[in-house]
Amino acid sequence: MSTELKGRTALVTGASSGIGADFARELAARGCNLILVARRAEVLESLARELRAGGIKVVVMPADLSADDHRERLAQQVESAGLQVDVLVNNAGFGVFGNFADTDWSRLDQMLQLDVVALTHLTRLFVPAMVRRGFGRILQVGSTGAFQPSPGYASYAAAKSYVLNFGIALNYELKGSGVSCTVLNPGVTATEFFSVAGQNWTWYQRSTAMQPRVVAGIGVRAMVSRKPSVVAGLLNQMMAFTTRLSPRPMTAAIVHELMKN
Ligand SMILES: NC(=O)c1ccc[n+]([C@@H]2O[C@H](COP(=O)([O-])OP(=O)(O)OC[C@H]3O[C@@H](n4cnc5c(N)ncnc54)[C@H](OP(=O)(O)O)[C@@H]3O)[C@@H](O)[C@H]2O)c1
Repeated sequence: MSTELKGRTALVTGASSGIGADFARELAARGCNLILVARRAEVLESLARELRAGGIKVVVMPADLSADDHRERLAQQVESAGLQVDVLVNNAGFGVFGNFADTDWSRLDQMLQLDVVALTHLTRLFVPAMVRRGFGRILQVGSTGAFQPSPGYASYAAAKSYVLNFGIALNYELKGSGVSCTVLNPGVTATEFFSVAGQNWTWYQRSTAMQPRVVAGIGVRAMVSRKPSVVAGLLNQMMAFTTRLSPRPMTAAIVHELMKN
């Protein structure tokens, strides 16, 4: 296992559940100190207690990242605490399931603020100092939904296409700076995602779901290897590949079928 993260500080968003909590555990196991961010402060505190037992420093900074002022305040809190972010894991995110025409605008707005704007804003807040110091690792959490139009998750999947293209382009711009950006694209993962999105699992989701611990491990390894992007799991890799070869209206129809209960 690479030791490049030992003693570094990682900020993990959405660390209160699912893949984010397992990113925190994976980074802690590599000797990384942590700044844990999400809205549920008590859950973060409980994870922090668990991880401090391993001898690393863990700070909890609760924030609602869909709000612009919370993101600015988070960056100020990090600075006031005398911390520097060496590793940024932009994991916080959620989806809204349903026909676009029937979805609530305020929920969609919150989703786009979190999945697109917050991810971009936090990257912009922390990347300049990483470049100045000549070291930084950024992990953006996308989705296999990024690779095709996804009826039922039309706006969410399109937001993840943004994450994928933004992350790969940024990684290119950062070449030679000592800073890299990796996009992790998970497929179906057994977390709170589906209850938050308002979707009952389909047969496809039940039969393909991966465990968040496995997905987080794949993401951290790809980040340490400075890969521009990675798809979690062989089946998801095959689907992301075949999608590229198929006409988009056809993949939209296939995704629609896979999302049926
Ligand atoms: N599970 C899947 O099948 C799947 C597939 C592809 C991609 N992903 C992506 O993986 C990432 C992690 O999702 P997950 O599956 O682990 O789902 P999850 O268990 O629901 O975790 C989502 C995390 O985001 C945090 N969060 C939500 N709204 C927030 C806000 N306004 N401000 C700050 N934090 C917020 C939540 O914490 P609080 O509620 O405490 O704020 C929670 O820690 C997301 O970007 C998701 O789009 C998931």
